[in-house]
Amino acid sequence: MTVEMMPNTSKANTEVAPLLSEAFRIDPASVLARLRTDDPVHEIPGIGGWMICRYDDVRALFTHPDTTNDRRAFEHYKLPDDPMARFLAENSPFAAPPVQHARMRKLVAAALTPRAIRRQEAQIRQVVSEFAEKIRGRIGIVDFFSEFTEPIPSAVVGRITGVPQKGTDELRWRQLARDAVRGVSPFLSPQEREQSERSMVELCEFIRELATERRREPREDMISDLVTSHDADDTMTNDEIMVMIAGLVAAGTETTTIGGTRGIRTLLLHPEEMEKLRSDPSLMPNAVDELLRFDFGPLGIPRYALRDFELRGKKIHKGQLLLLNFLAAHRDPEAFPDPDRFGISRDTSRLTIFGHGPHYCLGANVARTELASMFEAVLDILPPGARLLEEEIEWQHMGMFSSIKSLPVDCGN
Ligand code: HEM
Repeated sequence: MTVEMMPNTSKANTEVAPLLSEAFRIDPASVLARLRTDDPVHEIPGIGGWMICRYDDVRALFTHPDTTNDRRAFEHYKLPDDPMARFLAENSPFAAPPVQHARMRKLVAAALTPRAIRRQEAQIRQVVSEFAEKIRGRIGIVDFFSEFTEPIPSAVVGRITGVPQKGTDELRWRQLARDAVRGVSPFLSPQEREQSERSMVELCEFIRELATERRREPREDMISDLVTSHDADDTMTNDEIMVMIAGLVAAGTETTTIGGTRGIRTLLLHPEEMEKLRSDPSLMPNAVDELLRFDFGPLGIPRYALRDFELRGKKIHKGQLLLLNFLAAHRDPEAFPDPDRFGISRDTSRLTIFGHGPHYCLGANVARTELASMFEAVLDILPPGARLLEEEIEWQHMGMFSSIKSLPVDCGN
């Protein structure tokens, strides 16, 4: 059952369905705090799934032998009809069998030489600065979502991958990436899923063309690195490169948009911490992690039960969904003392936002560089007195989840 098919519960009693209540939409952290104490493995009404709210459980479930991140194990999952979409579903970094997955990661690691990482960092800073320069000096209200945090991540993945900036290639890439990433959500109507799969197929064909070109004529970009990367005699095929880059798009676009958007909002809502960061830029790496800890939204990373098992007295059934909730885990006082306080100098060493174990985020370095670069740019271009129009933020509500769709900042006259 998709979220859209759930009963209309906007007025639901929080005691009965806390995750579907208005209170959860307005202040998810408080509702999750209550669940963390009273019902840490909480059944999500209507979808045959569970919300996991304690830090230790979230951490353990990333590598729990009774669960998988392969969504084909979800009881409501339907394999796509299109052969290419089916191929991706079966071979993506999230679903490949462990041996094939480990081999792909080894080849990607071999491509991430110090030189390649330096080049990627420069490309990321370049993309962020291009978007920042369009905003610098503007007066009146600027939407930092549509003009900054929303377009940057797909432009970054495109640029580091090697999508040509000439003509309309980059714009076409961004459009396809945006449509394709919607498919990551387990809560889509059949029509939405079909549309996102069509975009993913088109995106993959685009990537395959690039891989064929780079094999003939390598350049300074990630596809060329992957084409030439080898581990002993082993190399990646064009199909494997396509699957890996599609995986980067799927995993690295919306995530970084969320981190950037919520991060800028958190900074603007905590002017003292923002000033502290402005006056000591060496605090930026820790500030990035603290911003991700403090508010990455009420979302969860999915796991699917491979067999029946018990967790904190609850019977989890084979095929059910477990959502490892970041906001609940990162506000767990057992892991982060005084968790509702935002402080850019706090100890963030237990942050688990990039996962844990064999599927640990392949783009953590890219994401951290990109976010640091976005926050630095915001500190640099915001005029004194700029203020967030918190009441005018546009929220999109999709089932129980809310995401930010505009971030209006008054930049003065
Ligand atoms: C704030 C931004 C990001 C967050 C919070 C994030 C978080 C995560 C998490 C939690 C996982 C583990 C998933 C699991 O265990 O099922 C993951 C995996 C992954 N991430 Fe990220 N990510 C971010 C940005 C990126 C970026 C920018 C890229 C690429 C450019 C990327 C590429 C990937 C890939 C390819 C995987 C799959 C790794 C595998 O299965 O082996 N991520 N990410």
